[in-house]
Amino acid sequence: MATPSPVLLLSATAAALGLHEFVLRRVEVDHLSLPIIVTASTLFWSTAYHSGFLFATSLAAAFWVPLTIWILLYRAFWHPLKNIPGPMGARLSKFWALKTTYETNFHYHNVLVALQKQYGDYVRTGPREVSIFDPAALQPVFGGASKTSKGPFYDVLEKSLHLNRDKPFHRQRRRIWDNGMKDSLADFAPRVEEFTEQLLTRLHKDNGKLVPLLDYATYYSYDVMTALAFGDAMGFIKGDSSGAADSILATFTNGLSAMGYMYHMPWLLNALTPFTSIAGPLKEWKDWSVVQMKARMAKPDTKPDFASHLINNSQDCLNILLGDSRLLVTAGSETTSTALTFTFMHLACHPHYMRAVRKEFREHLDTYHCDHPVPFLDAVIDESMRMWPSIFFGSQRLTPPEGLNINGHYIPGDTIVTIPPFVMYRDERNFARPNEFIPERWTTMPELVHNKTAFQPFSMGSYSCAGKALAKMELRSVIGRVINEFDVVLPEGFDEKEYFANVKDHMSSGPPPQMVRFVKLKE
Ligand code: HEM
Repeated sequence: MATPSPVLLLSATAAALGLHEFVLRRVEVDHLSLPIIVTASTLFWSTAYHSGFLFATSLAAAFWVPLTIWILLYRAFWHPLKNIPGPMGARLSKFWALKTTYETNFHYHNVLVALQKQYGDYVRTGPREVSIFDPAALQPVFGGASKTSKGPFYDVLEKSLHLNRDKPFHRQRRRIWDNGMKDSLADFAPRVEEFTEQLLTRLHKDNGKLVPLLDYATYYSYDVMTALAFGDAMGFIKGDSSGAADSILATFTNGLSAMGYMYHMPWLLNALTPFTSIAGPLKEWKDWSVVQMKARMAKPDTKPDFASHLINNSQDCLNILLGDSRLLVTAGSETTSTALTFTFMHLACHPHYMRAVRKEFREHLDTYHCDHPVPFLDAVIDESMRMWPSIFFGSQRLTPPEGLNINGHYIPGDTIVTIPPFVMYRDERNFARPNEFIPERWTTMPELVHNKTAFQPFSMGSYSCAGKALAKMELRSVIGRVINEFDVVLPEGFDEKEYFANVKDHMSSGPPPQMVRFVKLKE
């Protein structure tokens, strides 16, 4: 069997080192993962076909082995981030985060807390990634005047307001969203209340029975969002959802674990993206949403709503309209259901706060509107989101080419920076007694909040949550009205510590499944 000549082997090695020095060191290739895999495989198999398997394998080894060793040496010793402390595994590869996620059973948020303790406020958590735990970094990284841009994570899946890195496109699209949200707020309130009413009807039927809390919160949030995005709800709360709707919901909830790994490696998600339109569970979601959107577009617009606003402003591009409508559902569902679940769980664990929320809600009943603040209820919701934010992901940003100076620390250009919210919220510099659920810190005990800016559950700056007002309406409506009529009761033997210790980091935070009873009040 033929083997490559020494000159050819040396040329392959030289090509590998040249590729690293002149391309990989300077250009981000995360979004090219699929073309790279396809080109490398095609070259390998065509060489094997023409010159034999041994020949192709020897040549591939002469290219890939030195390239890998060189990349690892560069990352460990010569990379511009070499002076930023962090675990050696993380300096070499993001596979370290994957391995850690696996070993801790999706408790990467706790790993970050430990890293802060060990290495300080600026930790290298990936070859070109720095996790920052310094509250002074919030403005320079996320603030309106920040020079950062979105990181490679935002290149994955389909293009939408959220998943894109094109600043002018985002600015233009965000204006459409913000105007639509502003014009639709009055329309949202009755719709939100209508679904809360459906939830109350179901809870009355279930009175006192053990029910799966997270599932019910998920049914609620998916119904509201699909109604807003496509005109019709999926029918989960009423219990008349279609088989397709059930299967789509299962895809999203079962896919959470995969996201727990994938968000560390956007290049892998990127490589898989084209396949999501060809086959598999995400194709079902896409096909379903196309049918829904076509039906919605065919309906006469008797009363303009947010969906019609998106339709009217996406005339020239159906793909963007579909991307944004699906975004509305995905961005608004999991986040809200998680916040609902954790707030109910905190109230169930602290019944005196449940009674205080009820008392206040009843006192405000005459003037209640889910769009208006209800101070203690809002404080409970905020405190729950502080303890357990819906999103653990620290929103990747890329530093500008000239780098970024933050509080005396220089972060080189083209570095991925993240500020993980869970760590910020559990930091004593920001919140006194950070591991305790104390809603009064947001009302009568402001001395327990040392740094209010550190609390950003909806993120901040140009890319912050577009649905914050709507989310707050849903949370107030559901928590206020349900607690007004029901006690949330945990089953015998429930262990609060164990429950919260089992919260997982799937990029969003994953509450463990928990059965609870909604018991109708006697008065
Ligand atoms: C408790 C509920 C919610 C929380 C905690 C939350 C949190 C967040 C956060 C942290 C981001 C920034 C993500 C990033 O930087 O990558 C975000 C973005 C976004 N959220 Fe929410 N969200 C919630 C509910 C909603 C709802 C109900 C909607 C529906 C309208 C929504 C729509 C969006 C959109 C469209 C974006 C992308 C904005 C952009 O890129 O300009 N969210 N959300």
